[in-house]
Amino acid sequence: MRIAIGSDHAGFRLKEELKQRLIELGHEVKDFGTNSEKAVDYPDIAFRVAREVSEGNFERGILICGTGIGMCIAANKVAGIRAALCWDERTAELSRKHNDSNILCLGGRVLSKREAMRITEVWLITKFEGNRHLRRVRKIMEFEQRINKSD
Ligand code: RB5
Repeated sequence: MRIAIGSDHAGFRLKEELKQRLIELGHEVKDFGTNSEKAVDYPDIAFRVAREVSEGNFERGILICGTGIGMCIAANKVAGIRAALCWDERTAELSRKHNDSNILCLGGRVLSKREAMRITEVWLITKFEGNRHLRRVRKIMEFEQRINKSD
């Protein structure tokens, strides 16, 4: 799978570890920064990754900050993005099955490397269930299109 990944300084270490694991699993991963633990602003990275996913250049995105919350808020401002903050395997699974999430947000300061790996692996293999969930996701996407048109 083609995956865009990004983090701020608080998610940098986890990003590096996760990126390595995803490459080992055979995924094509492009890193949109940051490249050190020097402080940066998470929205800059979130918008970069979210745009890439929204434009169809990558199937999925992964964003990591301290809690995952800031990345999630920012990424969801980009049209076509359904970013999900997941903190365990169950939320990762349901964010795919029910919400068709296309960006996974993780907290580098609140998850262990092992937890983050498991969450990511479940998130990558779980398929959207469609049916009634598709109707609900469509409502969100249609609302977003109406809002953007009235700008
Ligand atoms: C950075 O200190 C921290 O605020 C950021 O990584 C993130 O947790 C924001 O939501």
